[in-house]
Amino acid sequence: MKSTNYSRIADRYDRNQYRVEEVKVDADLREYMVHQSQSEYAVLDLSCGTGLYLEKQMGGFTDFPVTWHGLDASEKMLEKAKERVKTASLIQGFAENMPYDSESFHFISNNYAFHHYDHKEQVLNEIERVLKKGGIYKLHNIAIHDMPKWWVYQYFPAAYYEDQKRYWTKEVLYQELSLRGLTVKLTVNYRMEQIRVADYLSFAENRDISVLTLLSDQDYQQGIERMCYEVAAAPEKTIVTDFAELFCIAEKNQ
Ligand SMILES: C[S@@+](CC[C@H](N)C(=O)[O-])C[C@H]1O[C@@H](n2cnc3c(N)ncnc32)[C@H](O)[C@@H]1O
Repeated sequence: MKSTNYSRIADRYDRNQYRVEEVKVDADLREYMVHQSQSEYAVLDLSCGTGLYLEKQMGGFTDFPVTWHGLDASEKMLEKAKERVKTASLIQGFAENMPYDSESFHFISNNYAFHHYDHKEQVLNEIERVLKKGGIYKLHNIAIHDMPKWWVYQYFPAAYYEDQKRYWTKEVLYQELSLRGLTVKLTVNYRMEQIRVADYLSFAENRDISVLTLLSDQDYQQGIERMCYEVAAAPEKTIVTDFAELFCIAEKNQ
């Protein structure tokens, strides 16, 4: 499995406005806290990247006593996170071998990162270990198996094959979490929509979508040139794209 070098992307990661605008105050975290009555909550954003999720939650949960933690493999991504969230505890480390005591966290969020892990079973072992009893692991990612006509795959066909190697199916994810004694609820939200190709060219050119970094420069350039050519020929050109998001809530049994 090829891996993305986030040191090379860190500076342009947050230029993708979709990433910044998409993050909301986490309704699942709120629901969890409202139904618990702990004197303090420990929340980990696993593979926190530039701190977008933490920043949003730290602003949205000022009414709860929470200690916020972020772990990421990339020093460069963490440098950005440190500028964004000054009071969170941010640590460089690997999801496969987390530098935390067992049963440390009430809630672990994990956004757009699971496909990056080389040793996914080991990561799940670690999540189960560091989660408190009754705690929640929430995974959010794109659901690539439900979006074969994603615009990225239409213009960069090699990306589809790279992603097949990186992503687990929802069935495998469900089974692997259940095997570890977690109670799992998994949802996939799907939509089919028409998009203007011109609106997506800047996303492709920013090359922060990790799968685009895994392509040969030749495959990448071919896709960019095709998009540019089509936009030049017909600035209003639209295509139909798939998009699917997977949300998985897994509770560690008491
Ligand atoms: C697509 S980014 C997602 C960042 C953030 N969660 C977000 O939603 O913006 C993937 C992140 O996973 C991190 N990562 C990749 N492999 C990792 C590993 N084995 N352990 C911890 N973090 C890892 C990368 O450094 C990168 O910051």
